[in-house]
Amino acid sequence: MGETITLVLPAIEVPDHITDTPAGAVRVPGTRIPEKHVAIDAELLSELLTKARNAAAKAHAPHSHFHVGAAVIMADDPSGAVHCGANVENSSYGVTVCGERNALFGAVAKGFRRIKYLAVSTTDSLGGPLSERSPCGVCRQAIREFTGADVTLDDALILIDSGEDGVLCDVVDIERLLPHGFTFPE
Ligand code: THU
Repeated sequence: MGETITLVLPAIEVPDHITDTPAGAVRVPGTRIPEKHVAIDAELLSELLTKARNAAAKAHAPHSHFHVGAAVIMADDPSGAVHCGANVENSSYGVTVCGERNALFGAVAKGFRRIKYLAVSTTDSLGGPLSERSPCGVCRQAIREFTGADVTLDDALILIDSGEDGVLCDVVDIERLLPHGFTFPE
């Protein structure tokens, strides 16, 4: 166990913007995400990023040559095991599954349902912009499914390997990663 650090995820307050038209109001929805403080063990954080990087080496990526690894710890897994995965491509391109979902679904298939930490490393684009290192839209929705019904109470963290000099990773929660993501009506 290393030092516990507290990460601050700042509040985001963007009001709705309404434009009246003859056919009715057109709304651009705002975002209201409260500030969040999440404690994490510093050693565990870098261990997860290293495991995600190592998992990327196992990717089957003969088509894109873009290797993605992920390492997940589930909040409801008392063992604290790290579940790893990598992207697996196919000659029939649509069959491909991303590294994030391979890691996450492995954990889900073992019976666990709530993400605590999900680290991802796109080892071929490290040092690049966040858009080239962060989970795709499908993976965001898959992550959303396993971050709890009430996301404002959830403290799951998504750790995105950086590769930038002096920056270990970018950190977001699901609200910041996927605003307005779909949830099935209760
Ligand atoms: N890929 C992932 O594994 N995760 C993402 O979030 C984005 C893309 C993979 C899919 C494919 O094997 C390769 O990266 C290029 O798109």
